[in-house]
Amino acid sequence: MSNPFVGRSVSVINDLSIEERKYLFEKTRILKHAYTSSDEAILEQFRINNRDVGIYEVFLEDSTRTRESFRNAAAFHGVKVSDLAADTSSFNKGESYADTFNTLAGYANNIFIIRSKLEGVCTWLDEATTAYAQRNNLKRLPSFINAGDGKHEHPTQELLDEFTFLEDNGFRTDHLHLALVGDLYHGRTVHSKADGLTLFDSVEVDLIAPPELMMPEHYLAKMKENGYTVRLFDSIEEYLGQDHIASKWYFTRPQLERMGERILKNQQSLRKKVSWTGKYDFRLPEGTKFYHPLPRHRIHPTIPTEVDNTSLNGYERQSINGMYVRITLLAMLAGKIGEDYTGLVSVAENQDKEEYIVNVTSPQQEAPGTSQRVSEGVNPIRNGIVIDHIGKGESPSTIRRSMALIIKVLNLADERGGEWVSTSNSAEGAYKGIIFRPGVNEFSRKELKRLAAVAAGCTLNVIKEGKIEAKYRTHLPPRIYNFDDLSCRNDACISHPDHNEGVPARFMRTRENRYVCAYCHTEHNYQEIWR
Ligand code: NCD
Repeated sequence: MSNPFVGRSVSVINDLSIEERKYLFEKTRILKHAYTSSDEAILEQFRINNRDVGIYEVFLEDSTRTRESFRNAAAFHGVKVSDLAADTSSFNKGESYADTFNTLAGYANNIFIIRSKLEGVCTWLDEATTAYAQRNNLKRLPSFINAGDGKHEHPTQELLDEFTFLEDNGFRTDHLHLALVGDLYHGRTVHSKADGLTLFDSVEVDLIAPPELMMPEHYLAKMKENGYTVRLFDSIEEYLGQDHIASKWYFTRPQLERMGERILKNQQSLRKKVSWTGKYDFRLPEGTKFYHPLPRHRIHPTIPTEVDNTSLNGYERQSINGMYVRITLLAMLAGKIGEDYTGLVSVAENQDKEEYIVNVTSPQQEAPGTSQRVSEGVNPIRNGIVIDHIGKGESPSTIRRSMALIIKVLNLADERGGEWVSTSNSAEGAYKGIIFRPGVNEFSRKELKRLAAVAAGCTLNVIKEGKIEAKYRTHLPPRIYNFDDLSCRNDACISHPDHNEGVPARFMRTRENRYVCAYCHTEHNYQEIWR
């Protein structure tokens, strides 16, 4: 029987569907019970116990819980586990990530756990190293587990957080009311919640952080898009001044190591706004639990140690759950469990099914500007192309910027012709841009895609002997990739040109026609993706 989890990677929480996560949680519940009651027969059902499986830990940023819980989970499984000594590896000789991990995969390792400052690294390695494994007929396809990538995501922390919320919800998934407190700007564990909490049918999220530490706009937008009710508060004090208080609080640590001088100057007042003190206790609903991905700072903890010995403490069990959740995840990726899974399998990206170039030629049309409306100052062309309706409805200066981008991306600067801003025929008083290029006749499909990507909603007229031979209308493509001049603007992204990792930039269209980088998920508008 085939196992849907073997060879899969978990770069972001959405790499596992809601049903797949529910499966993982149900298995974790069984495993944890067997572990705490020493039920060897059940534990054996989970144990990988296969010398062909090799797990590699590569931590390029500090870690205690994530690294050690994975290492101990691997020890439970009785498999080979190695640690790359990054300080003395060939990384320092200028080797790329892809070459390094391909090498490790070649030595009979197939599950890689990576923590790095570079965002999207596991998505990239999943592509590059899978191709290497196929070229070399390796026995097992690799899996990559993101153990935290910069400010992006931390999907296995999200799994253990969700498991702990479920334990405290009697494993019900109908509703969750969660307060997220602290450094929501840098905290990848809270960023993973934007998609992760879709596990629950209805979600209320209260974000408690001063503006300097507030959740980045696109995660906030994603939460709303996922149907969460989201409220914003500047401080715990302000939050407690109203009546609808969550019974689950998720604290995070101000990540000073990622902050600039300007924010660091105010650290004392920032900390105060997001740190708990015993004087607030009486305001909490019955049964309230506090959670924290940890570590907490020994001098400035957001949850003081006095709370440890109270019923508010959910964070110690949460941390312990980390090992159980990771034992289960490893068992799935190694194919030890998962064959009984019957639900939906997560499919990562939408394919290019949507048509972004539509041929709208109608017979015997005249070229734009030939009769009804003599174009302003330029003779109609007999042979060539006219790109019309550029930026219709925008201001003239915006339209000029769009035209400049089209000319650059389609390499039209060295051709004869002209371009100008005109008023639209169809929309009263609205402006539009037109580019004329006599002598240019053909556009390849690839060029048409470039045109669609920079000028959605325009029309391309191909003119022969004064007549429109073909007319196309463009729509933004669902995916844009395979062009050398694309690049992600996030300088922490594995695909950013500064890192020279040779990662081909790729974008997927999301809400409001914006494009997210396939690796780090940074949002761009369609103009920002061109170098
Ligand atoms: C977090 C991390 O590294 O993202 N810790 C963890 O993995 N348990 C949070 C942090 O560093 O504050």
